[in-house]
Amino acid sequence: MAGPKSAANENEISRDRLAELLNEDLSREYQAIIAYVVYSQVLSGAEYMDIAAQLEIHAKQDLDHALILSRQIDYLGKMPVVTPKPVRTSKKPKDMLRFDLDNENETIRNYRDRIRQCEALGEFAMAEQIRQILMQEQDHQIDLATALGIEVPDVSGGPKGRTLGKRR
Ligand SMILES: [Fe+2]
Ligand SMILES: [Fe+2]
Repeated sequence: MAGPKSAANENEISRDRLAELLNEDLSREYQAIIAYVVYSQVLSGAEYMDIAAQLEIHAKQDLDHALILSRQIDYLGKMPVVTPKPVRTSKKPKDMLRFDLDNENETIRNYRDRIRQCEALGEFAMAEQIRQILMQEQDHQIDLATALGIEVPDVSGGPKGRTLGKRR
């Protein structure tokens, strides 16, 4: 569809491609819901009480995100997916929190891109909805980094595996 030089250019996005990417976001939200449902209940130990309660809140917020994304995908004329990205498991609390943090980092990278893509298509209301989701994802990321006692990761480099032509 797109010209040869624009094939790999995320700036020239189509509505179909946006719907595909939103479906990937939806799979990631399902993944997050499952992980948060399970981890919030199996994290044990006094030092993890606070974060376990926060993970329950994340689960509910991610369900809201999944509903918003599904509505946007339907609006773009596509069918929302029904499959989560794979959920990693571990018996170790630190691992569970680490997996969650990795997923949030990936989610944040993607939503930052998605906002730009929505705006490139003139879908400003959709961009606004994703901005609201992104604000909550950043809170999730902060909660997890704090529980792990680490700095909040800088994910400003764009999605994993993407090579940027323009660099500053
Ligand atoms: Fe989410
Ligand atoms: Fe999240």
